[in-house]
Amino acid sequence: MDLAAPPSLGSLFPSSFDEIPLPFRHTPDDTGKTLLIDGQVISWNGPVQPTRSAVCLRQADGTFSQIDLGPQALASAAEGRAAVAAASRAWKGGRGDWARASVTARIEAVRKFVRVSLPLREKVAKALMWEVGKPYADSLVEFDRTFKYIEETADALLELERRAAKNAVTGGFAARIRRSPLGVALCMGPYNYALNEVFTLVIPAVIMGNPVIIKTPRYGVLANALLAPALNESFPPGVVALLTGNGPEVVGPMMESGKIDVLAFIGSHKTASILLRQHPKPYRLRTVLGMGAKNPAVVLKDADLDTAAKEIVAGALTFNGQRCTALKHILVEEPVAAALTERLAALVARLPVAMPWVEGAVITPLPDGGHPGYLAGLVRDAVAKGSRVPNPGGGETAGTLFRPAVVSPVAKEALLFSVEQFGPVVPVTPIADPFDAVDIVDQSDFGQQAAIFGKDPKVIAPLVDHFANLVCRTNVNTQCRRGPDSFPFTGRKDSAAGTLSIDDALRVFSIRSLVATPQKEEAFLEELTGMSSFLSRPE
Ligand code: G3H
Repeated sequence: MDLAAPPSLGSLFPSSFDEIPLPFRHTPDDTGKTLLIDGQVISWNGPVQPTRSAVCLRQADGTFSQIDLGPQALASAAEGRAAVAAASRAWKGGRGDWARASVTARIEAVRKFVRVSLPLREKVAKALMWEVGKPYADSLVEFDRTFKYIEETADALLELERRAAKNAVTGGFAARIRRSPLGVALCMGPYNYALNEVFTLVIPAVIMGNPVIIKTPRYGVLANALLAPALNESFPPGVVALLTGNGPEVVGPMMESGKIDVLAFIGSHKTASILLRQHPKPYRLRTVLGMGAKNPAVVLKDADLDTAAKEIVAGALTFNGQRCTALKHILVEEPVAAALTERLAALVARLPVAMPWVEGAVITPLPDGGHPGYLAGLVRDAVAKGSRVPNPGGGETAGTLFRPAVVSPVAKEALLFSVEQFGPVVPVTPIADPFDAVDIVDQSDFGQQAAIFGKDPKVIAPLVDHFANLVCRTNVNTQCRRGPDSFPFTGRKDSAAGTLSIDDALRVFSIRSLVATPQKEEAFLEELTGMSSFLSRPE
């Protein structure tokens, strides 16, 4: 099948601001200079760096330059230490007001944060669009999903409390078993879900009574900075801090202080291990980590190839393949490998590549200006080892744009076989036997999810049994994903530590603490319940 040559990639970038539709134009301002420390929203006067957009301007000489969205505060080690000191004061060894506040008061503060933030929906979504390059429609979806998650977290805590309202009476004792906070939590989310994955850490942490320090992702600073005043208005001083700047400079001293009790981090396992090593008493540190993945799609020879191809393209290329859950390796049984590859190439060739404000855009500019070159290198390496790129123009780069590439067949020796591409590249490897897929996942450093496409339960059931112990979610005839957010989200090996979901997150940011009396004194326990905020029952 011959696929038509696509239009030039570089011509998709605007050559002047006038080419950007009026409602989406960005006027640089000082939003990026916002820090929140110790109950003060600060407009930073110190060193700054430009906030670069994923979107480039096409220059007259044919080069591309990432649009400057305005200055961004480069907080230093001193601000990092100040945020830790304020959070430690708020925590006060567990005796601080927030740590001892009633569940009802904590839930009310979170609900206030939702009320104050909702009017910022379009503004935050536009900031995400500009900085991270996420299509505007998807940026709105990210905002909505985040605030739904926050509301559901408050509901889940109420439910958890209601379940814990009864005394446990056993072995001659009566006890009230509750969940209590852990201490100062450092929350660091990734740039691909710069809002969602930050707040799905921050909100469960804070609602459980922990003071929280947010270090914003590398890209996605503006969306978070816009919410700093709402955080400040909703939570007491010192309870939530927000810092921007160079990670190693700001975060290193925080970890080295030994005053971080919980590290909630979503990013690379390399950064995670640096952070863990910086803590002077690592055995004290609680962690919840979401790291890399190389989720395979296993396509069996009896699969409905049209459905599988559609699902794989969505799974591999939604938001430019920049999802930790994206399908990053397609393992297809040899007899159908050519037919699947042809379908993938045809679908990928039709994917709209456009600026993020264009309705229906799927492939958009990448925020990391160096990433297109990295991806092109992976494709070159695979081609040198026997692969071809069947979709016209696949792998072409211009500025921050990378035209998605189906790469097939990807040999074991190629980098694409094992490294996480985190971008719009769809590596396809034919396999002689479905169980070859199990071996490949077993030998991989990652273990997040897998997807199986096929019909025969006699083949799929044993695969499910093997994947169950290699990954943490096996998807049958559907792509890999995190949602629904009530499902456990975790992984093995280099992919994750700890489990996130609306309910699980409340648990990872807290520890059970109980008050026990002899059973005959249960009435006294009740009397205490009326006077203690720890023991109090939610209305
Ligand atoms: O990057 C990881 C995200 O949590 C993935 O979420 O599967 O819903 O896109 P998603």
